[in-house]
Amino acid sequence: MKTAIFFYSTYGHMYKMAQAAAEGAARAGAEVRLLRIPEVIPEETLKQMGAYEAQQAFADLPLATVDDLRWPDAAVFGVPTRYGNMPGQFRNFFDRAGKIWTDGATIGKVATVMSSSGTQHGGQETTILTTQITLMHLGYVIVGLPYSYQGHSKIDAVSGVTPYGASTIAGTDGSRMPDENELEAARFQAEHASRIAGKLFD
Ligand SMILES: Cc1cc2nc3c(=O)[nH]c(=O)nc-3n(C[C@H](O)[C@H](O)[C@H](O)COP(=O)(O)O)c2cc1C
Repeated sequence: MKTAIFFYSTYGHMYKMAQAAAEGAARAGAEVRLLRIPEVIPEETLKQMGAYEAQQAFADLPLATVDDLRWPDAAVFGVPTRYGNMPGQFRNFFDRAGKIWTDGATIGKVATVMSSSGTQHGGQETTILTTQITLMHLGYVIVGLPYSYQGHSKIDAVSGVTPYGASTIAGTDGSRMPDENELEAARFQAEHASRIAGKLFD
């Protein structure tokens, strides 16, 4: 089966989660593509935000085009929180996918969403759930992160991870990178989504 990871990242947190998701999809035996959603913030502003340098770490990955949505059986979307919703970069991407929508190109395919936020309760769950609305309009079969992932039960340390999808907490200064529980959640989720796609399409 074929799995694509579509991610947007300003400071690299969702990039790390997307890399882990790619590992998880490969664990399921999927052919994997890791694609970054195009930036819409001007370079000057990115420099002022301290994001320009961070984005160089994954600048060599291919940019996603909306036609890349046609290829995978399973799509993993890495969507960091912006005010409790998806970032404008992702909204812009989906707003350019009208032809994909009217062609029905994604109907019946599997989709799953991961997120990140600065604070512990800063909108990861709302970001995942509201992104799922767009994905349902596109006809995807939505998959979450089931409780068979044992890391849901971890309460001894700060951690993301929701039943709706894997997540990480960056800290308000962005200094916290995804820990092993969050990375394994991303792997587990992508493997799970890929295996379901395998049952539907292979
Ligand atoms: C414009 C903007 C809005 C944000 N809104 C929120 C928010 O509502 N709640 C929150 O906890 N973090 C918020 N953050 C922090 C980001 O979610 C956090 O930096 C991001 O998840 C880190 O992932 P990334 O490095 O992959 O972009 C915001 C960041 C920016 C730049």
